Amino acid sequence: MFKVLKTDGVARRGEFHTPHGVIQSPFFMNVGTSAAIKGGISSLDLKDLKCQVELCNTYHLHVRPGDDIIYKMGGLHKFMNWDRPILTDSGGFQVFSLAKLRKIKEEGVYFNSHVDGRRIFMGPEESMRIQSHLASTIAMAFDECIENPSPYDYVKKSVDRTTRWLQRCIDEMARLNSLPETINRQQMLFAINQGGTYDDIRAEHMKTIANMNVDGVAIGGLAVGEPTDVMYRIIETVIPHAPTDKPRYLMGVGTPSNIIEAVYRGVDMFDCVMPSRNARHATVFTWNGITHVTNQCFETDSLPIDPECDCPTCRNFSRAYIRHLFKSGEMLGGRLAVQHNLYFYNTLMEKIRAAIDEGTFEEFRNHYSPLLASKLV
Ligand code: GUN
Ligand code: ZN
Repeated sequence: MFKVLKTDGVARRGEFHTPHGVIQSPFFMNVGTSAAIKGGISSLDLKDLKCQVELCNTYHLHVRPGDDIIYKMGGLHKFMNWDRPILTDSGGFQVFSLAKLRKIKEEGVYFNSHVDGRRIFMGPEESMRIQSHLASTIAMAFDECIENPSPYDYVKKSVDRTTRWLQRCIDEMARLNSLPETINRQQMLFAINQGGTYDDIRAEHMKTIANMNVDGVAIGGLAVGEPTDVMYRIIETVIPHAPTDKPRYLMGVGTPSNIIEAVYRGVDMFDCVMPSRNARHATVFTWNGITHVTNQCFETDSLPIDPECDCPTCRNFSRAYIRHLFKSGEMLGGRLAVQHNLYFYNTLMEKIRAAIDEGTFEEFRNHYSPLLASKLV
């Protein structure tokens, strides 16, 4: 159940009630693709980083260790020792971005595993069965994520197929949730809007899925090659047709500035590898922009990464020390930087929520959106 507590323009402040607890929105989901946040962050650390939701991937966990194994271990929550909400992506995106030699048919997608080359089939029913085994809080519908730009006729055909796949996901999830052996019988399902960069297909598709029996809607197929202003235009096109009483999730986005701009346009949920991936390459976010902790200028700098930050890393370690760890190839460097960046993203969402609560989100956006898009030297 999703409850809007307050609006400020189109931006929404809400509460999303799930079987694994209440999530304050807008929120950012911390990406743990293979049931682990890259950089050596455990579920215990995540609690110190203000993480509300962890995101895992159906495709990766199906390939390794296998969803049957996670089912035998009692589901993802027990497996990772994480008791807060988990969202699993359906495989729809990873099959298209990672798998080799794929063939799309009405029944689903045939592809070769990126790990051992094994031939695998995944369709809507398979994706729902895997996600039911994983027992995540929220399952995503199996979709085709189309690259941008793609020809109009192809996008139209693909989106119609994604809609048929959604109905099959809804039916299969209802069946799985009725089985006594299912670990999480209250598993939720989100639909995914597609349509490339075509406003008419996007709007039509959002109208269709808004009337279907799902717990939330996502906007997919963005940040896959199109310019940022096109992404913002698509969000503006589809949000007026999205349900007001369900959460809206912009998949795989993005920079702090992208997130602020999307909240400004009515989005409630985000996920992105950007904070963890950048951190592992020594790129860190601060309230004045982005910087590289390996810069020469930090060689004897005793300040923390961001003097304004009170994350576990900034409370305890200097730029000089973290720079040294990176320079010597110590994995602690990556871990400390990932902790900082995830804390930064989760704090960004906290600040966004406070600004909407106070009715000052427009000022917040005008100040932080350009600032956080900037690079520090
Ligand atoms: N992650 C980022 N974009 C997408 C998308 O279009 N579909 C799915 N399933 N996951 C995504
Ligand atoms: Zn910090």
